[in-house]
Amino acid sequence: MIESLYKADDSRYDNGMKYRRCGRSGILLPEISLGMWHNFGEVDPLSRSKEIMRYAFDHGITAFDLANNYGPSYGTAEETFGYVFNKSFRPYRDEMFIASKAGYDMYPGPYGNWGSRKYLMASLNQSLKRMGLEYVDVFYSHRYDPETPLEETLQALVDIVRQGKAIYAGISRWPLEATKFALSYLKERDVPCLLYQGRLNMIDREVIESGVLDEVDKNGCGFVSFSPLAQGILTNRYLDGIPEGSRASLGRSLNPSLLTPTLIDKLKHLNDIASDRGQTLAEMALSWVLNDRRVTSVIVGCSSVNQLADSIRSVKCTDFTETELKTIDSILK
Ligand SMILES: NC(=O)c1ccc[n+]([C@@H]2O[C@H](COP(=O)([O-])OP(=O)(O)OC[C@H]3O[C@@H](n4cnc5c(N)ncnc54)[C@H](OP(=O)(O)O)[C@@H]3O)[C@@H](O)[C@H]2O)c1
Repeated sequence: MIESLYKADDSRYDNGMKYRRCGRSGILLPEISLGMWHNFGEVDPLSRSKEIMRYAFDHGITAFDLANNYGPSYGTAEETFGYVFNKSFRPYRDEMFIASKAGYDMYPGPYGNWGSRKYLMASLNQSLKRMGLEYVDVFYSHRYDPETPLEETLQALVDIVRQGKAIYAGISRWPLEATKFALSYLKERDVPCLLYQGRLNMIDREVIESGVLDEVDKNGCGFVSFSPLAQGILTNRYLDGIPEGSRASLGRSLNPSLLTPTLIDKLKHLNDIASDRGQTLAEMALSWVLNDRRVTSVIVGCSSVNQLADSIRSVKCTDFTETELKTIDSILK
């Protein structure tokens, strides 16, 4: 079949997307980034993946978040990205901010997991090949490894940047003490940590409570929030049961047993507040994260263009009244 040619929308930077400075760096990121953990693997329709990616770019989403093992199967989200990039986005490479990561289970044997220099370097080479890229914009250590010396993991990030295979370095899900070490190690080597990636949403505020978000902010590092919709819980997706095809129905990363009647009741309450604000629950959940000015961008997942369009609307209103914030807190207590 002949692919339709793609020309990016000329008004892509004028149709509402807002950009935030990433820590104390030269980089601006869109308030909404597109995450490709689910829905872009080989099991998902390529035509839909392409449609979502094009819609994202046409609406000012310049940041695409990947990792070596996104799929399923592992590696296939990067393959999908590479396929669509090659057909649609190659002329726009310099307008895109593409992330990959390594740190979780990827390939068999002792060198396909955690934080060794060998794993990070080999995995990034594989990711570049799958995506058809010469470099990524940011490469993350996907998780803290308690066994590998932190210096080894961090020096691998420094060397990857010096080799030109990534423009910036980042860390994801590192605990506070290790984060402090990473921020100063990378800074001393003139490869300052551009981004910390952590889970932050109305339900899960661990990065705030542990002091990670403050530490990152104090050190001039940006923060991007993953699973800002709690994998779909903080949307209207489950208000009336578990729809077929939804993430909870697939039983991969979202355990349906989390969706207790008590939680659904709280979500309905939150949904009412969202309606009063003129937003959907998903919009309000994203606006809530973006209300914290230490957050550079929220990385949203989606399984349709409509969901993405809804999520993008959240940037219109990221302010909350004190009463709204207090009511949200009291519901989720
Ligand atoms: N660093 C890390 O360790 C890490 C970990 C997790 C994620 N991430 C990154 O963060 C990204 C986002 O995480 P996530 O996929 O868990 O994100 P999420 O944004 O919290 O949830 C996405 C899911 O919510 C549902 N949804 C999205 N928009 C909706 C809307 N407007 N209305 C109703 N439902 C909506 C969809 O569920 P259905 O699919 O059921 O339709 C979608 O798949 C990932 O893709 C990945 O790039 C990083």
